Amino acid sequence: MKSQARKFRLSGAAPLALMLCVSAIGAPLAAKGASSTDAAARAAATEARMTDDERITLTLGLLPSARGDQPPPEGARPGAGFIPGIPRLGIPALYETDASLGVTWIMGARGNGGTQLPSGTAQGATWNVGLIEQGGRMIGSEARAKGYNVMLAGGINLMRDPRNGRTFEYLGEDPLHSGLLGAAAVRGIQSNHVISTIKHYAINPQETGRAFMNTVIDPKALHESDLLAFEIAIEKGDPGSIMCAYNATNGGQSCGNKWLLTDVLRGQWGYRGFVMSDWGAVDGLEYALAGLDQQSGFPIDPEPFFGEPLKAAAQSDPAYRKRLSEMTRAILHAIYANGLDAHPATIGTVDSAANSQVALKVAQEGMVLLTNPAGLLPLGPDVRSVVVIGGHADVGTPVGGGSSRVLGDEGPSVSVPGVQDGNGPFAGMINQDYNRSAPLAAIRAAAPNATVKYRDGAYPAEAALAASQAEVAIIFATQYQTEGFDVPDLSLPNGQDALIAAVARANPNTIVVLETGGPVAMPWKDEVKAVLEAWYPGARGGEAIADVLFGKVNPSGRLPVTFPATLEQLPRPELPGLAEVEPNFVGTGALGQKLDVDYNVEGADIGYRWFAREGKAPLFPMGHGLSYTSFAAEGFSVSSGKDGLSARVTIRNTGTRAGAEVAQIYLADASGKKLRRLAGFTKLDLAPGEAREVTIPLEQRVLADWTPKGWEVARGTYRFVLAKDALADGQVAEVNLPARRLAR
Ligand code: BGC
Repeated sequence: MKSQARKFRLSGAAPLALMLCVSAIGAPLAAKGASSTDAAARAAATEARMTDDERITLTLGLLPSARGDQPPPEGARPGAGFIPGIPRLGIPALYETDASLGVTWIMGARGNGGTQLPSGTAQGATWNVGLIEQGGRMIGSEARAKGYNVMLAGGINLMRDPRNGRTFEYLGEDPLHSGLLGAAAVRGIQSNHVISTIKHYAINPQETGRAFMNTVIDPKALHESDLLAFEIAIEKGDPGSIMCAYNATNGGQSCGNKWLLTDVLRGQWGYRGFVMSDWGAVDGLEYALAGLDQQSGFPIDPEPFFGEPLKAAAQSDPAYRKRLSEMTRAILHAIYANGLDAHPATIGTVDSAANSQVALKVAQEGMVLLTNPAGLLPLGPDVRSVVVIGGHADVGTPVGGGSSRVLGDEGPSVSVPGVQDGNGPFAGMINQDYNRSAPLAAIRAAAPNATVKYRDGAYPAEAALAASQAEVAIIFATQYQTEGFDVPDLSLPNGQDALIAAVARANPNTIVVLETGGPVAMPWKDEVKAVLEAWYPGARGGEAIADVLFGKVNPSGRLPVTFPATLEQLPRPELPGLAEVEPNFVGTGALGQKLDVDYNVEGADIGYRWFAREGKAPLFPMGHGLSYTSFAAEGFSVSSGKDGLSARVTIRNTGTRAGAEVAQIYLADASGKKLRRLAGFTKLDLAPGEAREVTIPLEQRVLADWTPKGWEVARGTYRFVLAKDALADGQVAEVNLPARRLAR
């Protein structure tokens, strides 16, 4: 039985809120850590001087909280994990915090908050590698200033199922897009002498049954999809650590899976950092032999396998002796390569005002204008009356639940308890929380001459009446997502679909602002004048929404995921395990429960690739997003040179407003095989009338077949399309390539 159930039962005695608070004095930042070769040499030299007790200290992560009547480990800081340091050898303690959206709230245990980046889906929707790196730099600097030197960030699992409860944490559905953006976030975080993970290695497609489900998939398909995202993120981001997932893959638990951890990660990719387990994902000592380097968050697992038992094994069994040495070196490698020893994680100050500007920029660039057929948006300064309806828009914007939740210093404005019963000490982690960035106030500020009213939307008739009396109705519709649960379908909960329909009937100028973790269905789409996908827009989300509605910001987000029209269009219309697995964060599933899920249905063809293959029309494909200006492309060509493949194109802003276009290049025909695969992209800011020529590198692995010998490109003609979205037609360019194996 895997460990999600265990996780929350065992730690029940130890609410995170009881974690220790430690303060220290800030240290200045200096240059980054050592090169990989230096780090490896130093790691080997240090490891050779260590005792076995010191080695196992590094391989066993602890919860930094009190446990029953046991105090927290000495020196721990409130967070997700703690690994004591070894002062004799100058090895720093590791202070771990979640995660990709900022330094997490952990139910207020630290006594302060963090700057909340928009959700992963919003970040993915920016398609802006530089901005995501800036976001990583910002949250990494906050982690450091709050006394952490490891961020459990870099969530890059691909959206195989739009109902996945952690869709909001991840970047999208395409391996190149998620790999490049995930790498950028990691680079930004690690520029602060803070190790970042990427996670959850390697295929972790849903929350239902996550602790024990087995993902069944052909290795070739896995290499061409989920694994490719990790391969790219590791190459371009150089994360100090990889976090393996809860679930099993092809029969072996991810954290004890030799094929994933040793053969692929180390053998094929040459990864030199360390693999840490997810919290409560380890079942036995033998995971060390499979390639796991650090067991996390003890005592969430039932035993400290990588503590005394590992020492005893190393002293009697050469295989464990060898592994203990490798494990220790891998952890030291990440410490030295990122300069954690030279730049201790001491508590400093945070420039919240400057940091929230970064969050604002990501929110602005992540908004996706889905429909605007009559050009109602942007709203002008002459609008006289507006009614804002629903979504707690009077107080804030929604925040996803679970370990990744970030809130500001004051905590949530609204907190609706419990998704299910069985709450226990971690109940607060899954409350439906809202931050304090209120869209209503921002709309009032953007429309000072208008009467702006608010209705909570509880009663459709009341909302419709208010809508009938206003010039414009703006409905905020929310879908809550949290770690631990999937959403059962794509509807908007609590009757919001009916609310939107009622308001749209009452007011011809109805605008829907979606604040969802991922895709939802829109049965009312053609009845409303505009739909803006704002996701969970972060610390200054309310402002960012008003900026787009009133045209201060020209929307430039493009969907990072495909919105299906119906569940029937998906590879698995029914969510696996939904009927059998009790949805309960406090204990997902009974002992011995099994759930095998066959992902060979779609194989490597996730999201838009599946829709292209099946010839199905989704509601909105990946890449879709409108602007208040228009763009044209000229002179699209693709060429092959000594540095690989690249595309050239000139993009022109043909409208009257400044705006940004995402040039998206998809492989459409690979040596006679019709398909769709994102091969390259870039985002360009353009003034009205401005044109710019860009060169865009194209990823050759998306053209290739993965084979056990490596990536093989077949001889033939490759056709690319420069398209507005993943399924659209567009300008075409071709290149002829000889057969070749790509260098590793
Ligand atoms: C999550 C991880 C997280 C860890 C530590 C787990 O439940 O799956 O993503 O980093 O907890 O909080």
